[in-house]
Amino acid sequence: MANNTIKTIIVCGAGTMGSGIAQVAATAGFKVIQFDLNESMLVKAGQSIKKSLQKFVEKGKISPEVVDSALSNIHYTADITECKGELVIEAIIENKDAKVGLFNQLFMNNGPQLMVASNTSSISIDLIAESITYPSQLVGMHFFNPAPMMKLVEVIKGKYTNPTIVEQIADLALIMQKTPVICKDSPGFIVNRVARPYYLEAMHLVQNGKATIEQVDAVLTSIGFKMGPFKLMDLIGLDINYSVSTIVWEDLGKPLRLKPAAIQKDKIDQGLLGVKTKKGFYQYD
Ligand SMILES: NC(=O)c1ccc[n+]([C@@H]2O[C@H](COP(=O)([O-])OP(=O)(O)OC[C@H]3O[C@@H](n4cnc5c(N)ncnc54)[C@H](O)[C@@H]3O)[C@@H](O)[C@H]2O)c1
Repeated sequence: MANNTIKTIIVCGAGTMGSGIAQVAATAGFKVIQFDLNESMLVKAGQSIKKSLQKFVEKGKISPEVVDSALSNIHYTADITECKGELVIEAIIENKDAKVGLFNQLFMNNGPQLMVASNTSSISIDLIAESITYPSQLVGMHFFNPAPMMKLVEVIKGKYTNPTIVEQIADLALIMQKTPVICKDSPGFIVNRVARPYYLEAMHLVQNGKATIEQVDAVLTSIGFKMGPFKLMDLIGLDINYSVSTIVWEDLGKPLRLKPAAIQKDKIDQGLLGVKTKKGFYQYD
């Protein structure tokens, strides 16, 4: 393992992924600063982390002492000047300019040695690197949803990334009891590239009146998929899934077969984003 000097991890974004990543990091013994611009998201993250850790205790996977120590490791803040540490794991909105602005502000607060990892699902690591102050400090660290459960972490080595940082992030994933896979920077990396047709073909079928949402999900789960595409999109968040589709489609030269689906855009326009808004393709209470 590389010499890991990481003590405090700044997790930016307290939504679906950021809260899960903060939980994973705090359970692995790191001090965590969870930062979000929206204070209500920080409150929600605190509640969902507590609930999730308690479920792990009920299943006998961790002890109550681990829960106490994990919870005491996390500091929640909406004040960026409190974000001081060795590593940032960024899980804010899927928008390049927002990510670049955040990284540059964090470099100003922490200096050039700060390592910055993006949890982006689809934005090119090289493209982000080209707009930040210290491009060699950026790496991709792509967790899957729900982060406390899913083992895989794609570690994306961009053309500017310092190889030592790639090694450190892969080691960190192991310390977090994850399975790191080092990937090249290409649209959707591995998982999101391969999974695109799973979502898009399902939506095109429904959009063209050839099947219902329930039918598609039932058929796919009956042949062994853990979740049908519509349930899975609701879990991911329709806004996030749509942004990923759009970026992968554009980066690959807009092939017709990967065109984002209108039924997904309609849901987003109505504010129906899936589990996080309690309504998407399905309703949740
Ligand atoms: N949802 C998934 O299944 C999934 C899986 C893997 C990776 N990702 C990636 O993780 C990232 C976050 O996705 P999510 O589903 O957690 O989104 P989300 O919508 O649940 O949460 C995003 C959070 O970021 C906050 N935010 C927005 N701009 C900010 C800024 N400038 N500074 C600080 N906080 C800011 C928002 O207030 C919100 O709380 C995206 O890049 C996405 O592509 C998502």
